[in-house]
Amino acid sequence: MVAADFVVVANRLPVDRVEGPDGEVGWRTSPGGLVAALEPMMRNVNGAWVGWAGQPDAEMEPFENGGINLIPVPLSASEVAEYYEGFANDTIWPLYHDVIAPPQYHREWWDAYVTVNRRFAEAAVAAVAQDGTVWVHDYQLQLVPQMVRELRPDVTIGYFHHIPFPAHGLYAQLPWRDQVLRGLLGADVIGFQRAQDATYFLTAVRRRLRYEVKGSHVTVVENGGATRTAVARAFPISIDTAPYIELAQREDVKARAAEIRASLGNPARILLGVDRLDYTKGIRHRIKAYGELLAEGRLKVEDVTLVQVASPSRERVDAYVHLRDEIELAVSRINGDTDTMGHTAIRYLHQGYPREEMVALYLAADVMLVTALRDGMNLVAKEYVATRADNRGVLVLSEFTGAADELRQAVRVNPHDIEGVKDAIMTAVEMSPAEQSRRMRSLRRRVLDNDVDAWSSSFLKALAEVHSR
Ligand code: G6P
Repeated sequence: MVAADFVVVANRLPVDRVEGPDGEVGWRTSPGGLVAALEPMMRNVNGAWVGWAGQPDAEMEPFENGGINLIPVPLSASEVAEYYEGFANDTIWPLYHDVIAPPQYHREWWDAYVTVNRRFAEAAVAAVAQDGTVWVHDYQLQLVPQMVRELRPDVTIGYFHHIPFPAHGLYAQLPWRDQVLRGLLGADVIGFQRAQDATYFLTAVRRRLRYEVKGSHVTVVENGGATRTAVARAFPISIDTAPYIELAQREDVKARAAEIRASLGNPARILLGVDRLDYTKGIRHRIKAYGELLAEGRLKVEDVTLVQVASPSRERVDAYVHLRDEIELAVSRINGDTDTMGHTAIRYLHQGYPREEMVALYLAADVMLVTALRDGMNLVAKEYVATRADNRGVLVLSEFTGAADELRQAVRVNPHDIEGVKDAIMTAVEMSPAEQSRRMRSLRRRVLDNDVDAWSSSFLKALAEVHSR
């Protein structure tokens, strides 16, 4: 493969390798917001994407898929357990999401994280052309920027953090807090979702490393005493709006939305939740609030249905196993108490769906419930808004998501406040069409004017500016 001027490095490739029952190999779109946001940009540039194919012990040659050059990085079964399920998703993920679940600190996990980060850095360095650009993504790879810089000082390095960065009082728990900051500061530009995340990061840099920080500029002191500038600031990510708008206009997708409504018994209001099954998403809080509204008679099962899509995620990490049990118990209790033969309170789907079906669901939903306890951005909120071309529908949005900084006309909630969530659901269910339309118009303007192209362009522009200095 020829050297690429532009290399993206992320834990996951845009597609996962899947093996069928007879051992035949297929490819499936990878889960999560990161892949959804990066894929459209990569289709338009001549670059390479370095990542893991989602299966342990799969040694693969570089290949092309959907017009993108993919460079697989192998992970052994023990590295999947210690680097991916362990350090990335049972140490960093809960710590950075405000310790909603207790983070586990294990030295062997950290060692695996260092080893695997080095492998990704080496793969990136092998792929990138002289004076090229490497753009590293997300919390699984926080050491890669510094590792790339040490191996290849000619390369321009960007890093984007898709999840929250925690307040210093929490970050300081991390036994490897200084190493992680130095790893990130290997980048020329370190991008975050919210201004608050960048501020927390800069505070940690000042307090732990004692580097000079002026506005968003950090004076990084290299080994040997030389200095250079790194920039840390917010670049709120978005979605590729075009395919959502197109699908929402397609007659077959509209027909599917009507079919979904009919199969639920044509309730007056459909509420929708769409999340990876993750404890950060506030699925339990949402279900509790909804269940109480039914129990109190403020909502009637004949009139409303909550569709909850909870796509399977990180199923071998304990916190996720427990969460699934809790949610499924809560769902079946509420359904058992309130369902009639013809109507269900909650249609719960522990499955992932293709985009067509998701858009049909968005079109069918009168109210979209995004009640995350903490979320870097939450692209589901933006997807819902993008599909609502008729300006109908209500977005209920947690103030603890990155999206809340931008989507000011949503019905805002504090998901910890169950009475508040109940009132927000009632406000949404009872909102007049005129009020829906006033709010949705402004939400749509915001999402359509700031799509994922605007995000990647502004990040890459900032990167070019720093480098040319
Ligand atoms: C979030 C993270 C991504 C991650 C995705 C899916 O969006 O920011 O980095 O890829 O969740 O999680 P998974 O562990 O399946 O990759």
